[in-house]
Amino acid sequence: MSITVSAPGKLMLFGEHAVVYGHPCIVTAVDQRMTATLEQVQKQMFTLVAPDVGIEMYEKPMGELGRGEMPKNAGFVEMAVKNFFAQHPMQGGIRIETRSQFKSTFGFGSSSAVTVCVIKGLSALPGLQLSPREIFALSYKTVLDVQGKGSGFDIAAAIYGGTLSFAAGGKTIEPLTIDHLPLVVGYTGIKADTVTIINEVKALAEAQPGFVERVYKDMHDLVEASKEALARADWKTVGESMNKNQGYLDKLGVSSPMLDILIQTARDAGAYGAKLSGAGKGDCMIAIAEDIDRQKIGEAINHAGGQWIDVRVGAEGARIE
Ligand code: PMV
Repeated sequence: MSITVSAPGKLMLFGEHAVVYGHPCIVTAVDQRMTATLEQVQKQMFTLVAPDVGIEMYEKPMGELGRGEMPKNAGFVEMAVKNFFAQHPMQGGIRIETRSQFKSTFGFGSSSAVTVCVIKGLSALPGLQLSPREIFALSYKTVLDVQGKGSGFDIAAAIYGGTLSFAAGGKTIEPLTIDHLPLVVGYTGIKADTVTIINEVKALAEAQPGFVERVYKDMHDLVEASKEALARADWKTVGESMNKNQGYLDKLGVSSPMLDILIQTARDAGAYGAKLSGAGKGDCMIAIAEDIDRQKIGEAINHAGGQWIDVRVGAEGARIE
């Protein structure tokens, strides 16, 4: 028996970093998806085929999952299978093949999307039907087991899709009603390492706790205000909030010269506002603009040395294909 599951990538709209410390954020799902096909096999063996991240074939006995060597790009899938089978023991083994519509370097959350695909797929195989909350709990545990840190916002986006107000650990997962969000997305060409950057911000918070707390508090207020502006489709105010959010992230030291160039380029080309999206130092920036200006802004991003990624946001959450 085999099953195919897909889950969307994500972009952080507001509140990155602060969300790791209990503050809210706003995340949206993108219409580029990760897909996993799962097949139950008789042999007690885990097999992973993930050509998009250079894994032609990786095998391990089921009893050894999570132990010994784990190739970098296999870790999330291997731990997801281990965690699922620890809670829901089954006979035999599993073969998983993954495909992605987006590059793992974009920072669209390929690790969390693949984790969600695996947990949702496994829960459907024996007819278990885990709830979205249960899928969140197992997927979030998997991400923490592999990388030690993270708020889980990317997991929530992969499961629920749409645009969400999210608070750390899934304390709040609240869909926002937004029909259309005219974003422009630019890739810096630089892969950022989320855990390294979270640790740098943590070091800053230890050195200057009052300063960082004030930044988080300002971001918290901005997230709340942005929810209202998003609901009103008031893109001008959303843009001003993005610029403010970028200012706060700059204070935390997580912007970069390339992000600054692309953000300024988008603003100069007519965007209402722009900011980095995610951990910072690289990955993607986002801008908000009238639909009529999106193409022009995208081309300006390309011209400035970035890569315009033409995505739609608010995409559907994880689904069985
Ligand atoms: O690197 P990304 O795109 O997964 O974004 C990380 C966002 C943080 O707030 C810094 C971390 C998190 O898990 O919330």
